[in-house]
Parts: sequence; C-alpha cells; structure tokens
Amino acid sequence: MAFCWSNASVPILGLLSLLLLLLLLFLLPPHHHHHDELHAPPPSAAVITYPLSFREAPEFRNGETCSSSLNSTIHIAMTLDGNYLRGTMAAVLSILRHSTCPENVAFHFLWVRHEAEVLSRLKSTFPYLSFKVYTFDAKRVRGLISKSIRQALDQPLNYARIYLGEILPQEVKRLIYLDSDIVMVDNVAKLWGVDLKENVLAAPEYCHANFTRYFSQEFWSDSELSRTFEGRQPCYFNTGVMVVDVEKWRNGNYTQKVEDWMVVQKQKRIYHLGSLPPFLLVLAGNIEPVDHRWNQHGLGGDNIEGKCRGLNPGPISLLHWSGKGKPWLRLDSKRPCSVDHLWAPYDLYRMSKHSFEE
Ligand SMILES: *[C@@H]1O[C@H](CO)[C@@H](O)[C@H](O)[C@H]1NC(C)=O
Ligand SMILES: *[C@@H]1O[C@H](CO)[C@@H](O)[C@H](O)[C@H]1NC(C)=O
Ligand SMILES: *[C@@H]1O[C@H](CO)[C@@H](O)[C@H](O)[C@H]1NC(C)=O
Repeated sequence: MAFCWSNASVPILGLLSLLLLLLLLFLLPPHHHHHDELHAPPPSAAVITYPLSFREAPEFRNGETCSSSLNSTIHIAMTLDGNYLRGTMAAVLSILRHSTCPENVAFHFLWVRHEAEVLSRLKSTFPYLSFKVYTFDAKRVRGLISKSIRQALDQPLNYARIYLGEILPQEVKRLIYLDSDIVMVDNVAKLWGVDLKENVLAAPEYCHANFTRYFSQEFWSDSELSRTFEGRQPCYFNTGVMVVDVEKWRNGNYTQKVEDWMVVQKQKRIYHLGSLPPFLLVLAGNIEPVDHRWNQHGLGGDNIEGKCRGLNPGPISLLHWSGKGKPWLRLDSKRPCSVDHLWAPYDLYRMSKHSFEE
C-alpha cells in the first residue's frame, strides 16, 4: 500500500509559521529542563471516539534540484495508533511542508493491530503519501515490559522502536525514528544526512543532565550492573528522535542487547521509565551527537502533571511534546500552553478552529 506523493509547498504559510516561531522564541522565558525525558507515544488512556475527521493535506511536490534515484529516499519510521492519530497527522504534514524533496520521503508506520478506520483516514488525509504499514506483534515484548511511572509508557507500541531492524525490509539501511508528538520545522534531509561515523545511532545528547537519576539506587549500588558504563561517558538522550544505521543495528544484535536489560529490569528494578532506559544502558556515550535543535523536547511538561514549559534558547528544527501534556488535548481544553500554538498550524483535525484554512 504505497502511494506516491507530491508537493506544492506553501511559502507564505511557511514564512508565517517561522515568524510565529521567532516571535515565541523571544516572548517565552527560557527554561531548562532535564527532567522531562520521556519519549512521546501512547498518551494517557484517552480514548478517541470515532469518527475523527481530518482535512485533506495539500499535495507536496519535489523541488527542481531533487534527485529521483531510489537511494535518495528518506525513510521515516513512526508508530500508528488511533489515540495519537491527530499527532501523527500533524507530524507528517510538518515534515512534508518543510522538506525540499517531499516526494523522496517514505513513511514506515507500525501498529499493533489493523485498524481500518485509522488507515482510511491516513489515506484520505494524505492521498499522495508514500507509506507502508507494518504490524508490530505486541507479544514480542509483552513479557518484557515492566510497569513505569506513567501508564502511557507501558504500551507495547512504545517499545516497537527496538524492533525496527527486524520489522522494516532489509533494503532500509538507515532510518529516522520519530515520536508522534513532534512537529518538524526544518528540512528533514538535513537530519537524514548526519554523519553517523562508526556509530549505530545519532541523536541530540544532553551531557549536563543528571544521568544518575535515570537509574535506581539498586542499579548504581550493584557494581556488576553499573560496570556496563565503564569506559564510556554516558549522557542522556531522548529516544523520540533518532537516526539509526539499521544495518549496524541488525549486525550488532542491538535488539537483543536492549531486551537483555529489560530482562534484568524484570528481576530487579533498575529504572523507573519505559523504553528509554534500556536504550541508555546499551548506547549512552556511544552515539553520534546531533545538534540540540533537532529535539526541543519536554514541551509536554513532566510525566506527572504535564505543566507548561517554555522553549530552550537557540535555533529549533523540531519541537517535541514529550511528557504528559499533549498540545491537541490542551488546545481542546481551552487552556493551552504558549508552545502549543506552535503545533496548531499543523493540526488537520476538522473541528479545530485554530488551524489555518488552505
Ligand atoms: C546514489 O546512487 C548513485 C548512483 O548509483 C550514486 O552515485 C550515489 O553516490 C548514491 N548516493 C548515496 C547517498 O548513496
Ligand atoms: C543527581 O541525581 C542523583 C539521584 O537523584 C542525586 O543523588 C544527585 O545528588 C544528583 N547530582 C547532582 C549533581 O545534582
Ligand atoms: C549476533 O547474534 C548472532 C546469532 O546469535 C551471532 O552469531 C553473532 O555473532 C552476533 N553478533 C554480534 C556482533 O554479537
């Protein structure tokens, strides 16, 4: 079920959203948070009542400089979940809108079960999208999940990112994994083109964050376990935005390595979060750092209350509502945070009044 896709970018709207972004950058108080953490996904137990209806996105076409060779494809992997559909739609739109070569972007969606309504909405919202949908077998991970501090993090789909190497076809050698609560406001080709050097994964790295607190006292006091960080300088990274060399991931058995830590966690509580800590255990200190602009995370606030957060200073290419608060829920509740107005222009939900009309 792959479709072809094209683009007519909307320069004026692009410019307007950039201006809005810049305006907000100046208006919002800078705020450092190393607390948020957490990847995106499956939010609270909010159940979407169908029918959820979306406007059709415009057709986005390649610019003249774009190559049409097969190896110019940019592979993006995301999860697909009825509860997060509004976020997914906005994320996809934002990527295409800011892409110089939107027809070269191919999406790989993972879901845990076939949902005909989700699929038909995706197709009717993006009739030209190049995408494939894969089923992630929740059984693969069910026995390995330990309860975290936020129920939403315990959804099997949240763990699908560990299995991308085996789910995606062998010809996919590199991919960008993205959470569903992001919008990209820059050309995805720039992120795609990062030099991974000898590393299996690239992501923004936060070496000033207190790394200790991502693991329990039990972990740190067990010298055999904590020795895993020997010889590296581990730093926090967020698994909601990752560039992965899938070939290296497969050949290095990284899925197995991450799973091994989840087995340890089952026996002994070595961390409190979901799928993030085992990634840190395997890879922290051994990733290729990417500019922080590619994951302005924590906009959803903390994991407990989802309080409003401002933006960190500096340029931004990707906004990420990790944490408990999601922009579509806060906008609907009529008590949005300032940063949520940066998400609104990408909202294709039909009922919303805050989105633009073509
Ligand atoms: C894509 O393929 C062309 C022709 O085979 C080759 O010259 C080019 O280096 C390839 N580009 C990448 C990014 O692999
Ligand atoms: C880092 O976090 C740990 C565990 O929460 C705490 O004991 C330690 O004091 C913190 N270190 C710094 C430098 O804040
Ligand atoms: C990966 O696992 C396979 C099969 O268990 C094994 O043959 C291979 O040596 C492993 N590779 C690495 C790099 O650990």
